[in-house]
Amino acid sequence: METIVSGMRPTGNLHLGNYFGALRNFIKLQDKHNCYFFIADYHSLTTHPNPADLHKNVRTILSQYLACGLDPEKATIYVQSELPETAELYMFLNMNAYLGELERVTSFKDKVRQNPNNVNAGLLTYPTLMAADIIIHRATHVPVGKDQEQHLEMTRTFASRFNNMYKVDYFPEPVAYNFGEELVKIPGLDGSGKMGKSEGEGNAIFFVDEPEVMKKKIMRAKTDSGPTEPNQAKPQEIENVFSLMKLVSTEDTIKFFDEKYNDCSIRYGDMKKQLAEDMIAFTTPIRERIKEVENDSEYLRRVVRHGSEKARESARKTISEVREIIGFKSF
Ligand code: TYM
Repeated sequence: METIVSGMRPTGNLHLGNYFGALRNFIKLQDKHNCYFFIADYHSLTTHPNPADLHKNVRTILSQYLACGLDPEKATIYVQSELPETAELYMFLNMNAYLGELERVTSFKDKVRQNPNNVNAGLLTYPTLMAADIIIHRATHVPVGKDQEQHLEMTRTFASRFNNMYKVDYFPEPVAYNFGEELVKIPGLDGSGKMGKSEGEGNAIFFVDEPEVMKKKIMRAKTDSGPTEPNQAKPQEIENVFSLMKLVSTEDTIKFFDEKYNDCSIRYGDMKKQLAEDMIAFTTPIRERIKEVENDSEYLRRVVRHGSEKARESARKTISEVREIIGFKSF
């Protein structure tokens, strides 16, 4: 049995990229492994949310996890800020994290470019906090999307640096995990590479989107004027629509449109209509469950209380062993 950890920032509603990139694998893994899944609310402080929004967003994402099939009887589901041991480990790891390597992280460079007036130390040390999240449970596998690959590389660096520094074999070096396959990047609807909430309105498909909204977004997905030669390579935006279709449509449907593309008779309007229909069929049961779960405060409270207690047990054990290794002793 492996120990598995993953988390998401509470920055809005869950989209298909989150689900197919990470959450779906997690749901599969929870049956057989020791799984910890958390809401990364410490991480979201880098963008300074106001207190009322912070709590609301945690609640939103928790309801949506549960509605997608995360099972609190199987996995340990908790809120990051209820585990102060993570913050302590983050501090220890920061003592051996170097400015040069942190500045080279792509996600940091992107944030600096996007928000030059908010380059805070939390953003710079995002990878050390993420490493702490993972190794606080001494995890070996981390189900995430492709965009998190570099952060996982940093986690391995920090874990092995700790081991080497103290001449111990304490932390495993965790790997990003997608059932032995390549990590995935789910494309958005705007023709660019990635589905994400910060990529602009209309790019992401959210589970909470009402069918009409979802359909409108999909019908507006970027396409071109169509193939002019048989079997021609698909441009990125067309490849994206096919990729989205592969998530929710049957093989026959995909084959049908593939053939139409290859003989130049494809009508993108028809393809998008089909995609919308299949996407709505896939998301509707989850959307309905979200509505039930988000109104059940008692259930949410129970889940978090139970999960946080279990997570703390594991975190306390790690932090007391880490203190011992570092050389902190009580008098
Ligand atoms: P976050 O909140 O941006 O995204 C949550 C998860 O969704 C995946 N994801 C995608 N996967 C494929 N295609 C997409 N278009 C797509 N968009 C989002 C992300 O890869 C991620 O797995 N740093 C993390 C949160 C975090 C964490 C951790 C994860 C904090 N500590 C420890 C794992 C372990 C983040 O910002 O994810």
